[in-house]
Amino acid sequence: MLNNIRTTIHPWAIEKLGRDWLEYIASNTMNVVTEKLDPFIWSYDCKAKILEIRQETPDTKTFVLLPNQHFKQPLPGQHIELSVDVENTGTTISRCYSLSEIDGDRVSITVKHNPEGKISSWLHSNAKVGMLLNISSPRGRFVYRDQKKLLFICAGAGITPCFSILKALDNQPTRPDIAFYYRSRTPGETIFKNQLDRIQNGSTINISYSRDTAQGTSYLPNQLLEAYPDLKERDIYLCGPEPFKNDVLKYLESIEYDLNKLEIEHFIRMDTGIDQTRKFDEDVTVLLKSRNVSFTIEAKDCDKTLLEAAEEKGIHLEHGCRSGMCGTCRTHLVSGQVTGNQLGKSIYPCTAYPASAHVVLE
Ligand code: FES
Repeated sequence: MLNNIRTTIHPWAIEKLGRDWLEYIASNTMNVVTEKLDPFIWSYDCKAKILEIRQETPDTKTFVLLPNQHFKQPLPGQHIELSVDVENTGTTISRCYSLSEIDGDRVSITVKHNPEGKISSWLHSNAKVGMLLNISSPRGRFVYRDQKKLLFICAGAGITPCFSILKALDNQPTRPDIAFYYRSRTPGETIFKNQLDRIQNGSTINISYSRDTAQGTSYLPNQLLEAYPDLKERDIYLCGPEPFKNDVLKYLESIEYDLNKLEIEHFIRMDTGIDQTRKFDEDVTVLLKSRNVSFTIEAKDCDKTLLEAAEEKGIHLEHGCRSGMCGTCRTHLVSGQVTGNQLGKSIYPCTAYPASAHVVLE
């Protein structure tokens, strides 16, 4: 009975009152009784209620979530961090998931079951409609920035942030020139296939199957160049398994694609192979170009990450995990050198170190 009332009230409260008002009301009526009565609204934490679970492919499910008032409105392409006590031991583990869809107050994550992944296994076997999940507010810079010609290159579950941006752009009255390349194993494992077919109109959407023998064994970069001869003119959004991204990245470097136009989503720390113990030993000036802010890192502090060094000077840099995993802190290296977590011109200040006397970041 109480659950039914909550099920009706939560979407109504978020939609009709709005998150700011709900936050005001909840914070002024918070006590042990209200916290027990409804831990979705009377909570100090960002939580989301599972509204619906959809089977997308045999091993992939979409979870439609209603976040509470602590959630900030996301941009298509951003991700959330989900924390779950999978073993009921009081210890939570966390994993980042891109939002696959944003629909008013609701957001969705689309999760492929990885038998070795604790959270994806828990979601696939334990998550139920009505459950509350601990989530973060949306984060990340894998978002659309008014470019005119786009190319999304994605594989497997890496389609999620690309699809979220594609859907948002598809709803705009005027939209950029969009090309979309999606590599899936087989037609049956293709996530969002029906929706992609519907959006096809007006966009170039190519789906290639890595295990479909009828298509032969065409090498991935060849497929890209055949499908998009104007590839170098496009801003590229890349997301997928690490080997796939590395293949694409190597290919883009080989054709001298301008890596400043490349956005990569990744949630695991890259092994850069750089010896971070060889500390730079001069003072370093760091300029944050878009903010016109600069700071100095003394030689003795060059073993600190760029994020730590900035914070010590009272300068806030957007960040999440602080360990090179969530991609929230990613920025572009305009000039100078860094060591550590770097991919092309993208660097991750939480796990990157200065390596030249002048470093200019986006
Ligand atoms: S990658 Fe998460 S904060 Fe840097």
